[in-house]
Amino acid sequence: MAVEVLTTADGREKTALSRRHAATWFAARAAGDPLPVGRADPPDFPARPARPELLDPRDVPRRRPGSPEGRKAILHAIAHIELNAVDLHWDIIPRFADTPMPAGFYDDWVKAADDESKHFNLVCDALEAQGSHYGALPAHAGMWRAAEDTARDLMGRLAVVPMVLEARGLDVTPGMIEIFRQAKDTQSVAALEVIYSEEVAHVAYGSKWFHFLCGRHEADPKDAFHDLVRRYFHGGLKPPFNEEKRAEAGMPPDFYWPLASEPAR
Ligand SMILES: [Fe+2]
Ligand SMILES: [Fe+2]
Repeated sequence: MAVEVLTTADGREKTALSRRHAATWFAARAAGDPLPVGRADPPDFPARPARPELLDPRDVPRRRPGSPEGRKAILHAIAHIELNAVDLHWDIIPRFADTPMPAGFYDDWVKAADDESKHFNLVCDALEAQGSHYGALPAHAGMWRAAEDTARDLMGRLAVVPMVLEARGLDVTPGMIEIFRQAKDTQSVAALEVIYSEEVAHVAYGSKWFHFLCGRHEADPKDAFHDLVRRYFHGGLKPPFNEEKRAEAGMPPDFYWPLASEPAR
């Protein structure tokens, strides 16, 4: 199921399939007859549509949030992040299927993938209501980098994807909601509020399973987190941090503050 989502290129098709597979997974769990976690080879890169054109971030045109075009560019960038997140959450399942994990691990990532699929659709609906669509603008080419860098290290994947990248989403989303609120774009505000409320759980899933694996390997979680972020994450962590939401997600300040002052690697 994961590989099927990963190898589907069109965004609306990918997210529809993702939601269908998530519903099948949870229906089987509820019926007391859970689906087995099988074995499959995920692709090195997930299938993506012919549009958007993927560019080096330096070549993606700058956005002016004060203008309608600037706000469309923000929504477009968010749609791109959400589509990437659908693939990231499905990828972790087959990628690390050789590591025995409790059933709740799979529940969490299937749920997260289902959430991201909803997020992509909500943001695309908002874009389409403004006469644009996902694919109308160029997008960031480097989104799969974190997945490639951590393709052989489950703890590294958890440290970088939910605990750094998705936690960063908690920091920046309130400011984006404010931009759309000022523009009186209620549809985009509603979409971003759903995203903001649901992303806390994804960071929490990452923290939960990271701590679980630290326990299994008798590693100190804070030290392990610092080592793995330094090894696999190439940017510095940027304050200001949303300390309240990060705390809610199981990310204490001594995890991220010591990495904040370090230059990009
Ligand atoms: Fe999301
Ligand atoms: Fe997420």
